[in-house]
Amino acid sequence: MIPPNRKALTDSRYGWAEYLTNDEMTVTPWEVSGEINYSKLIKQFGTQPLDNELLKRIKKHTGELHVQLRRGIFFSHRDFNWLLDRYESGEKFILYTGRGPSGNVHLGHVIPWLFTKHLQDTFKARLYFQLTDDEKFLMSQNLSLKDTLRLTYDNALDVLASGFDVKNTFLISDVKNSQTLYKIAVEVAKHVTYSTAKAVFGFKESSNIGILFFPAMQAAPCFLESAIVGKKVPCLIPAAIDQDPYWRIARDTAPKLNYYKPTQIHCKFLPGLGKGGKMSSSIPETCIFTTDKPKVAEKKIMSAFTGGKATIQEQRKLGADPYICPIYHYERFLFEPDDGKLAELERRCKSGELLCGEHKSSLAPKVVKFLKDHQEKREKAKDVVSDCFINSCDEKLQKALGLERF
Ligand code: TYM
Repeated sequence: MIPPNRKALTDSRYGWAEYLTNDEMTVTPWEVSGEINYSKLIKQFGTQPLDNELLKRIKKHTGELHVQLRRGIFFSHRDFNWLLDRYESGEKFILYTGRGPSGNVHLGHVIPWLFTKHLQDTFKARLYFQLTDDEKFLMSQNLSLKDTLRLTYDNALDVLASGFDVKNTFLISDVKNSQTLYKIAVEVAKHVTYSTAKAVFGFKESSNIGILFFPAMQAAPCFLESAIVGKKVPCLIPAAIDQDPYWRIARDTAPKLNYYKPTQIHCKFLPGLGKGGKMSSSIPETCIFTTDKPKVAEKKIMSAFTGGKATIQEQRKLGADPYICPIYHYERFLFEPDDGKLAELERRCKSGELLCGEHKSSLAPKVVKFLKDHQEKREKAKDVVSDCFINSCDEKLQKALGLERF
């Protein structure tokens, strides 16, 4: 973790608002902690709320709104109206999202991927999926390059198991496919000063020089298709809001390189199974990993923190608090797609009718089913994963782009 440097932040042209850390919460690409206030994040990051007007406009294209939009899990954006203007005038956009392969994938990571899959299916959009093995190798004292690359392959199985259309999905390993991104990354890097990078990411004198360059690598896929086809192509990035600092670099640089600024849509964090905080691999006992065996996942759920009261009598009388309860939030984010049933769970929880043990016992089989399905798809992905990395599918990409060669 790189602790943010407050002085540099207030000094920079990005200012304090651009990079949030205060006494209540910290949200950076490398650390999310404290009680997250999403309205405050919108203000301080300078993004826009996903309001009803925009949701109505999205609905015109998607039919019924995706559950993550209906429930405000995706809650903020930059330039989404602009993206729809372009789309409605006949311009297709590409999707871009990613994963830093530092360990096993957990359910939180899957949240933006499921939404990205929905967008890919609905808008028939091409997806570039970046695996930032360089970032994770550079940031972690304990990861060797060999282990990180093993994780790139392993995590790519989870990506494909999330259901993307393999014919229209291109995985990029920064280390193995560096030649695809490097030309764009150096162009980006030339326009980002050390003082800006320090302000946005909190780099310090002791930060290694690899990580100082890395933000240019994460910006590069925003412009990849435009660079290949030689004309501006809109790009939409679905991700949790912790990745936002990268897009500020990308958006600042885009007009200088004659690309469109990338559009973002931001989601909230799936909480961990402990008290407060997002699901984070650094606290593995509060995480459900996609590779967890059913018994392990069940045990984690049964030992989770809840919004319940100290005794059954008290809970029956006063009810529980679903809003601080990971069990309720797992239903809301992922496991109860029916809005009516979710509302009923919420009501029963608040009234004291539903006890936490009962709720855990009814959630556990849903989680186990999800994991079993996912693990089967993960196994199947082994047959196709190598062909999905961008260098091994140049021919496929050329065809998709209608080019002879690039
Ligand atoms: P990483 O591996 O930290 O996270 C992968 C994706 O999961 C999101 N995320 C979460 N979403 C909901 N609930 C959570 N508890 C949760 N934890 C993480 C992250 O926002 C991210 O979308 N540097 C990036 C990799 C990357 C990337 C990208 C991500 C490269 N290019 C483009 C998004 C878009 C990283 O380390 O992500």
